[in-house]
Amino acid sequence: MLSRAAALALCALLVCLAARAPPARAQKGKGKDEAYVAPVFKDDPHVGKLSKGKPVDGTLALGQLQLLGFSVPKRDGLGFPDILLSLEASAGGDADVYCLPLVVTPDNRFAVPNRANAVWRSVHTVGTDYLFVSRNHSQILDGVTKVTEGGNVTEVTSFVCSVVGLSTLPVDFRVELDVDYESRALVPAETAAVEAIMAKCCSGERGCSGWQHAERSLAGSNTTDAELPVDLCHVHGNVCDGAGRLKRLHMVAYGLECEFPAEEMAAFTRLEKLSAGGNRFTGDIGKIAEQLVGLKKLEELSIAVSAINGTIDDENICRLAQNNLQLLNLEFNRITGQLPACLFNESSKLSELHLDSNPLSSTIPDVFPQDSNMQHLSLVGTQLSGGLPDSMKQLTQLRTLDLGFNNLTGEIPEEIGTSESLVSVRMESNKLVGKVPSSFAKSTSLIVLTLNNNSFTELPQEWTEGAPKGNRMIEVTVRNNKLKGTFPTALASQPSLAILDLSGNMLDGRLAGGEGLFSRTWLINLSGNKFSGSIPESWDNAGLFNESVLNGLRSFPVLDLSDNELSGNVPDYMLNVTELPFQIIAAQAISLGGNDLECPEGDPEQYQHIKGLVEQCA
Ligand SMILES: *[C@@H]1O[C@H](CO)[C@@H](O)[C@H](O)[C@H]1NC(C)=O
Ligand SMILES: *[C@@H]1O[C@H](CO)[C@@H](O)[C@H](O)[C@H]1NC(C)=O
Ligand SMILES: *[C@@H]1O[C@H](CO)[C@@H](O)[C@H](O)[C@H]1NC(C)=O
Ligand SMILES: *[C@@H]1O[C@H](CO)[C@@H](O)[C@H](O)[C@H]1NC(C)=O
Ligand SMILES: *[C@@H]1O[C@H](CO)[C@@H](O)[C@H](O)[C@H]1NC(C)=O
Ligand SMILES: *[C@@H]1O[C@H](CO)[C@@H](O)[C@H](O)[C@H]1NC(C)=O
Ligand SMILES: *[C@@H]1O[C@H](CO)[C@@H](O)[C@H](O)[C@H]1NC(C)=O
Ligand SMILES: *[C@@H]1O[C@H](CO)[C@@H](O)[C@H](O)[C@H]1NC(C)=O
Ligand SMILES: *[C@@H]1O[C@H](CO)[C@@H](O)[C@H](O)[C@H]1NC(C)=O
Ligand SMILES: *[C@@H]1O[C@H](CO)[C@@H](O)[C@H](O)[C@H]1NC(C)=O
Repeated sequence: MLSRAAALALCALLVCLAARAPPARAQKGKGKDEAYVAPVFKDDPHVGKLSKGKPVDGTLALGQLQLLGFSVPKRDGLGFPDILLSLEASAGGDADVYCLPLVVTPDNRFAVPNRANAVWRSVHTVGTDYLFVSRNHSQILDGVTKVTEGGNVTEVTSFVCSVVGLSTLPVDFRVELDVDYESRALVPAETAAVEAIMAKCCSGERGCSGWQHAERSLAGSNTTDAELPVDLCHVHGNVCDGAGRLKRLHMVAYGLECEFPAEEMAAFTRLEKLSAGGNRFTGDIGKIAEQLVGLKKLEELSIAVSAINGTIDDENICRLAQNNLQLLNLEFNRITGQLPACLFNESSKLSELHLDSNPLSSTIPDVFPQDSNMQHLSLVGTQLSGGLPDSMKQLTQLRTLDLGFNNLTGEIPEEIGTSESLVSVRMESNKLVGKVPSSFAKSTSLIVLTLNNNSFTELPQEWTEGAPKGNRMIEVTVRNNKLKGTFPTALASQPSLAILDLSGNMLDGRLAGGEGLFSRTWLINLSGNKFSGSIPESWDNAGLFNESVLNGLRSFPVLDLSDNELSGNVPDYMLNVTELPFQIIAAQAISLGGNDLECPEGDPEQYQHIKGLVEQCA
């Protein structure tokens, strides 16, 4: 199992060498829809063969991927079908599916779809997600091959997809394929609503250029006429059910300019996901919610980056959260008010809330229930005040917590980091005090912890005194706080640690040396503390002096020990320019000014690459 995962991960990097291909031929004795398996997939056990009525199930760890292949034939008089993939992920888990037309090179390679190169992709989301391939999409023709069976020639088009695990805990998934040769088209009532939205929101100067653009990826509409497509069943990003009713409406950055057309949207009675960010909407969020409350299947509502105002403390928003709404994203709007209990308490279905950059002026209500559904909570720059309530320790399914740039006060509840799925916590620029909770240090899932610009006084004991733990921490930044205590040896020994920024604190004592310290760390900023003693010889082995660690980086390395009370000699490994990785020289990565170090012997020219030394020694 593990070696297969490794192989697939490797495979995902670029292009996958597939199994040797048997000659092209359709299987006998089955209906055409299910019959054909692309030769390149046939004997490859890593590729799940997907067909109508035969879903593919599996379990994926974070970042692991499952390849899927499927083919659909062209039918006389009907052409290729509309294709719908449904991806269901187990509760609390997260996965995406990415697809490409299958194009096999002469040496039997094909590109493995990922988030960046995919033509069709699901979006990180809640519940069941969909990937719809319109029969009108020009790129379905890229995957066409001719198949001969009993003297008959059929055209078949093939696809390759990747399902990728996106949650720290393994996620169970199921992918189902549905094909539709009927002419699925938006029902008249919904077409009328789309036309009404167009009439209301596209009269501005720019005339909904984004909507126009969405059409251009489709064949059958390669015209120069300015008419916008109203049959959203066949416009990229939108998904209809077989009856021609919208399940997913994806009007992101369409160039809509109007009061949010909530009344018109209420006509889409089967709607599960509504994404309409990046337009120019005005309107009151309470009134919008009132119109949408009839959409009983609505799981996802996203109207980010607009000029929506009104208060978040609204009974209709509560009703949405109690109905079926799992994701609410209203970041970058003008919404005010106190966060209502209903978004967080037992009656709420929400698992994801994004309200960043709204002038809420709120506190966080102390109402999180046992086994709260909340997985992603993002309230950056919302003028929050008050403390982090004790009930936040019940957020046992939490994955990301973003509370930066607020006025939060008091201590962080000790047990806040107990969720086994917790990946990232950011609370920079608040007024938090006390101890950084041990639950973060004990977490085996946490990767990023950012607590800059607060008044924390103590790091978890597990980081200073404990033995290294088998955890996954990659980035720890607690810059500009009031930390006291000694060097966090156990944290520095964690093999995954890439970034450690504890600058601007009051840490003291000696810098620890020894085996295995900073083995993959390329940013170390301990500037502005009270560390004393010498710079350890063993830091020669830090990731920052190791070319194989630096080569993959997009950022420059940093070793900033300036403004401490360090003494003794500058270690030899920092001095010899010819032996240092070029990134260190290019970035002038080493800063040692403001210490009591001995000046190196010889010409200061030779240590010009070290910041702060020449000035002191010249
Ligand atoms: C070939 O096509 C003809 C007409 O469409 C059909 O009657 C016949 O069964 C097909 N043969 C095979 C082997 O599929
Ligand atoms: C999709 O193609 C059909 C014909 O196959 C055409 O009637 C329809 O207008 C097209 N839809 C779009 C949005 O281009
Ligand atoms: C669409 O138009 C582009 C040029 O604008 C052309 O290259 C392409 O072949 C056309 N596609 C179809 C299907 O007509
Ligand atoms: C909300 O925005 C509209 C215009 O977009 C404005 O007329 C109205 O006064 C605003 N309401 C509040 C409470 O600010
Ligand atoms: C949740 O909070 C709302 C107020 O926002 C309240 O009306 C409702 O009764 C609460 N539900 C539970 C289960 O506590
Ligand atoms: C914090 O509170 C002060 C005083 O009430 C206010 O001026 C400031 O804008 C607030 N900062 C943030 C980030 O909300
Ligand atoms: C930290 O807070 C200060 C003001 O208190 C602000 O000037 C600075 O930009 C903040 N730094 C970061 C990295 O947020
Ligand atoms: C290290 O941190 C200090 C204080 O936070 C900052 O001024 C300095 O720019 C940082 N060093 C580097 C190389 O980024
Ligand atoms: C450099 O990093 C690589 C990859 O992490 C590791 O295998 C190697 O042992 C390191 N070299 C040194 C000298 O630490
Ligand atoms: C720097 O290292 C190179 C290669 O290891 C060596 O030849 C040279 O003598 C060293 N220079 C100094 C000043 O130590």
